[in-house]
Amino acid sequence: METVVSGIRPTGNLHLGNYFGALRNFISMQNEHNCYFFIADYHSLTTHPTPQDLHGNVRQILVEYLAAGLDPEKATLYVQSDVPEVSELYLFLNMNAYIGELERCTSFKDKIRQQQNNINAGLLTYPTLMAADILIHRATKVPVGKDQEQHLEMTRTFGNRFNRMYNVEYFPEPQAFNFGQELVKIPGLNGSGKMGKSEGEGNAIFLADEPEDIRKKVMKAVTDAGPTEPNQAKTEAIQNIFQLMKVVSAPETYDFFNEKYNTCQIRYGDMKKQLAVDMIQFTTPFRERIKAISSDEAYVSKVARMGKEKAQENAAKTIREVREIIGFKAF
Ligand code: TYM
Repeated sequence: METVVSGIRPTGNLHLGNYFGALRNFISMQNEHNCYFFIADYHSLTTHPTPQDLHGNVRQILVEYLAAGLDPEKATLYVQSDVPEVSELYLFLNMNAYIGELERCTSFKDKIRQQQNNINAGLLTYPTLMAADILIHRATKVPVGKDQEQHLEMTRTFGNRFNRMYNVEYFPEPQAFNFGQELVKIPGLNGSGKMGKSEGEGNAIFLADEPEDIRKKVMKAVTDAGPTEPNQAKTEAIQNIFQLMKVVSAPETYDFFNEKYNTCQIRYGDMKKQLAVDMIQFTTPFRERIKAISSDEAYVSKVARMGKEKAQENAAKTIREVREIIGFKAF
């Protein structure tokens, strides 16, 4: 049995990228492994330092975890800030993380371009906080999308460095995980890049979206002028639409439009109509369960309290051991 840890930032509702990159794996792993799935609210402050409704955002992700099929009896579902032991491990790991390696991190470089007036130390040390999340449970598997690969590599570096510096074999080496083997990157609807909550209006399809909103977003998705010769290579925008179809539609539907493309008979409007229908069909059960669970205040609170207790118990054990390894002693 592996120990599994993963988290999602509460900076917006969950979208199909979160689902296919992470959540889908959480659900399949909870049956076999010792799983800790959390809501990364500390991390969200690196980009959203003064959120309007932090608690509401955290609650929404917890509801969406439950609606997607996470079972609080099988996996430990908790809120990162409910386990402040994480921040103590973050402090220890920061002592052995070097500015140079943090500055070279791709996500840091992206963020300093995106938020030039808020290049805070939390952004720079984002990977050490993420390493603390993972190492606090001494995890071996971390289900994430492709964008988190480098963070996992840094987590291994920090864990190994700790072991070397204090001459122990304490932290195992966690591996990024996707049950389909390859880590995935789900594209957005605006023609380039990944689906993301901060990638612009209309780029992401959320599990909680109403059908009409999905239809509008999909119909506005960026396309091109169409193929002019058989089997022409697809532009990025078109590859993206096909990739989205691959994850939500039946294989025959995908093959049908692929054939139309390859024979220059494709009508993107028809393809997008079909994609919208399939996305609505895919998301509808989620949307319905999100609404039902969200109205059950007592249940949501109970899940959060239960998760806090279980996560804290394990985290406190790690912190006790780490303090001892470093050499802190009680008087
Ligand atoms: P976040 O909140 O950006 O995204 C949560 C998860 O969703 C995946 N994901 C995607 N996968 C495929 N295609 C996409 N378009 C897409 N968009 C998002 C992400 O890879 C991620 O798995 N740093 C993390 C949160 C975190 C964490 C951790 C994860 C904090 N501590 C410890 C694992 C372990 C993040 O920002 O994810």
